[in-house]
Amino acid sequence: MELWGQRLWALLSGPGGRRGGIRSWAYSSWRSHPPLTGLLSPTGMVSHWTGVFEKRGIPEARESSEYIVAHVLGAKTFQSLKPVLWTQPLTPQQLQGIQVLCSRRLQREPVQYILGEWDFRGLSLKMVPPVFIPRPETEELVEWVLEEVAQRPHVVEAQGGPLILEVGCGSGAISLSLLSQLPESRVIAVDKEEAAINLTYENAQRLQLQDRIWIIPFDVTSEGNWTHLLPWGPVDLIVSNPPYVFHQDMEQLAPEIRSYEDPVALDGGEKGMDIITHILTLAPQFLKDSGYGWDRCSRSIFLEVDPRHPELVSNWLQSHPDLYLNLVTVRRDFCGRPRFLHVQRSGP
Ligand SMILES: C[S@@+](CC[C@H](N)C(=O)[O-])C[C@H]1O[C@@H](n2cnc3c(N)ncnc32)[C@H](O)[C@@H]1O
Repeated sequence: MELWGQRLWALLSGPGGRRGGIRSWAYSSWRSHPPLTGLLSPTGMVSHWTGVFEKRGIPEARESSEYIVAHVLGAKTFQSLKPVLWTQPLTPQQLQGIQVLCSRRLQREPVQYILGEWDFRGLSLKMVPPVFIPRPETEELVEWVLEEVAQRPHVVEAQGGPLILEVGCGSGAISLSLLSQLPESRVIAVDKEEAAINLTYENAQRLQLQDRIWIIPFDVTSEGNWTHLLPWGPVDLIVSNPPYVFHQDMEQLAPEIRSYEDPVALDGGEKGMDIITHILTLAPQFLKDSGYGWDRCSRSIFLEVDPRHPELVSNWLQSHPDLYLNLVTVRRDFCGRPRFLHVQRSGP
């Protein structure tokens, strides 16, 4: 099961922000790879560590070394460094900083955790292991939700913006991105993991979006009446990038994912459906009743899933007609795989 986006690196590492695509690294002490005399410039260090990474079979060797060198020099990308700096000698502190961070990459730690921050749709988010690192395809899920909301501008104005619930907020990438693009919206972000709740809170503060978000610890698999989780009343839409990896695929994930990211964020059970079905079962409790006027995207659930899920979800919904939920659209990701679902409630 492939979790990482397949966009060409060139598209990801322009002079603007960092985002997506990068993976992580294998162990070796930096002492066994001392910097070479005469290569003590940023360009020299990038070449040196690219060679070391390649030799050790570390994925995305050049991108990894470029990001680390740029980070130590206070830039987001190597390309955004002033060219005049590329060949200037680095200070001993900078050289040591690069060696320390590159040694972490040699242990296959993801670049996002090493740098401690990563960009998602232009927002710079703090990253802390083991909280899930947002993937580039999830940017497409957010884009889809924004498109659907934009088709109802008159309703947005009349209702003061959509009320959104995100299940499994992780670092807060989806919720904070929606809040930043929809100035009138409010979001309730839930996650069962304390580390995720704390990180979403920190990122909301960092982006000054804390006034329009409620961040609540909540396990979607727990039973009961959860309407008290809705401080502003029922929501217009639910969005989630839930754990959806088929359990048997977990062992095939890259070492960067297996060793550093929380399996709770990934493992969706035997058919990857465990959390998806809980979200769908709870949805009628959380969504507004009919008659709110958001005919196209209200009472909706937008999900990121595995390409095998559209059929599984469709079958599951047909066997649960009491939920009054219909799979109305399946959208493909940038690789052409069916990865996003729009489910809508049609009943009372
Ligand atoms: C794939 S990650 C998505 C994180 C973030 N939304 C993103 O796209 O980057 C799934 C998230 O769901 C959370 N999660 C897993 N099981 C859950 C449950 N039963 N109830 C609530 N959240 C859960 C995990 O802790 C994790 O943060």
